[in-house]
Amino acid sequence: MGISPLSPIGIFDSGIGGLLIAKEMKIQMPNEDFIYFGDTKNMPYGEKSKEFIRGNSINIASFLYKKKCKALVIACNSIASNALDLIQKKFHRKILIFNVIDPVAKNTIFLSYKRIGIIATPATIHSNYYTKKIKKHYHHLDVVQIPTPLLAPIIENGWEIKKINSIVKNYLNRLRSIDAILLACTHYLFLKKEIENFYHGEVHLIDIQKIVVKEIKEKLSEKKLLCLYPTYNKFPIFYTSSPIPFFFKKKVRILFGKKVFFKTHIFNYV
Ligand code: DGL
Repeated sequence: MGISPLSPIGIFDSGIGGLLIAKEMKIQMPNEDFIYFGDTKNMPYGEKSKEFIRGNSINIASFLYKKKCKALVIACNSIASNALDLIQKKFHRKILIFNVIDPVAKNTIFLSYKRIGIIATPATIHSNYYTKKIKKHYHHLDVVQIPTPLLAPIIENGWEIKKINSIVKNYLNRLRSIDAILLACTHYLFLKKEIENFYHGEVHLIDIQKIVVKEIKEKLSEKKLLCLYPTYNKFPIFYTSSPIPFFFKKKVRILFGKKVFFKTHIFNYV
């Protein structure tokens, strides 16, 4: 369908979580043009059923596909762990599909740990996708996972960091004696500093953004789809499925500046 290195990359999440993956993409691949979709109307995905997540994410992926994207990045663990197979099947051989779990789960960084903790939404934890993937590559690892359902919605709604911190502490008190922690929800990437402080730097925070984007860059390059030169006048577009929430807009401005477009797209469900 006529994709080229100049085509945009489509990236999606339930809300602001994927923005940090998009930001890392801008850092590692500054010439890339991208279209972001935050399903703000249906956030939090972590509380939704598998069927719901599958149905909605297919709608968003199809929407981005029609925008002639050269690749799709599933910047949401809840979607990747519940709907990746479906999205891959639908777009097989049509477009490159990336997600935030697979590149991390196979990363050799796990060779240096004995026991790791995973915090994620209930939808991700119940799927057991992450643990299964990691264990497939690293049998020696002891993996402890806990659902942290309150976190994504309060991050999305821009709660004061002090209030968020006391909730974080309550959860992390249940996750002691670990070598490393996986923030298996892209929203939690906004809390890296707080989580590092909680463990006084003694627990390693796996750098999900860097690992994921490195893989995207390598694959695009391998497929001769990496944009090697700057393209001008191409500003990123940020779609939301509800009138743009104040905090979403604020985060976009902080991370990407003023040269961006905001649009709302409402799906017609039958
Ligand atoms: N950011 C999403 C994830 O990585 C989900 C947050 C939510 O909508 O519950 O799982």
